[in-house]
Amino acid sequence: MPIVIDHLSHTYFDGGMGSLSAVEDLSLTIHEGKFLAIMGHTGCGKTTLVQHLNGLLLPSSGRVLVDGLDTTDKKQRSTIRSLVGMVFQYPEYQLFADTVKEDIAFGPRNMKLSIEEVNLRVSRAMAMVGLSYDSFADKSPFELSGGEKRRAALAGILAMEPKYLVLDEPMAGLDPQGRRQILQMLEELRQSTGCAIIMVSHSMEDVARHADRILVMKAGKQMYLDTPQSVFAHAEELSKMNLSLPAACRVAALLRQKGVDVPLDICTREDLEAYLMGRLKP
Ligand SMILES: Nc1ncnc2c1ncn2[C@@H]1O[C@H](COP(=O)(O)OP(=O)(O)OP(=O)(O)O)[C@@H](O)[C@H]1O
Ligand SMILES: [Mg+2]
Repeated sequence: MPIVIDHLSHTYFDGGMGSLSAVEDLSLTIHEGKFLAIMGHTGCGKTTLVQHLNGLLLPSSGRVLVDGLDTTDKKQRSTIRSLVGMVFQYPEYQLFADTVKEDIAFGPRNMKLSIEEVNLRVSRAMAMVGLSYDSFADKSPFELSGGEKRRAALAGILAMEPKYLVLDEPMAGLDPQGRRQILQMLEELRQSTGCAIIMVSHSMEDVARHADRILVMKAGKQMYLDTPQSVFAHAEELSKMNLSLPAACRVAALLRQKGVDVPLDICTREDLEAYLMGRLKP
């Protein structure tokens, strides 16, 4: 069963008379095992939207159903939280325990699993994020590098073995190598466990390469919800929204201006290379 977002609206009230409609009448279904990317200009409501997926925020109107469970139902909240893992922006700020292994064990322990199962999940999650158990388990999280801290924080969520993993700009502030490691890890996770990925990201290249579908939001509303190829074909509208295109799309657009009939559905370097090589063949 999927996550169903049904006519979701969320309004923030500032205590006085003011109110701000951050998400407006959004409906979409998030499928099991798929990679959904969420993009849009700063302040368009991405974080507000994803915080509804595990009941951290509740709808002002509309509903969110996680595998049929309504997030407003208090009795279902802990089940929903075990289904939907949430990785916030800069998750390393939430590391708190004395050792890496204690930190990662916190979530599974709260799920009342046996000690053996908790230990198994900690070592499995560390392997998944590429932190060797022998080298890192007994270290203080604060001795780690930036990228290692990020991966330790991610391991804490993975150890709960969520069915849906929500990440709010998980690569922000990382160098290219750190970004690649996170993306590769997410791909491996999806292949080995079938976990769905819901990722807020400003990185067009990564989104073009990894996402099955992209939701583009504008002022709290859905602008596009489609495959990367179809979304990036709206080059003009996206640039009006200050969203840059993947480099391959920009090159393809330049070639088109020069009269080369590059198809509109090219959005990764590999697509472009394959197309150009095809044209060069006699
Ligand atoms: N707790 C809050 N109280 C009041 N207004 C808020 C609150 N959180 C967010 N907002 C406002 O709601 C709107 C949507 O914010 P949100 O953080 O969801 O956007 P975002 O797309 O995640 O932005 P960014 O790309 O900068 O992370 C913004 O106008 C923001 O100022
Ligand atoms: Mg945000």
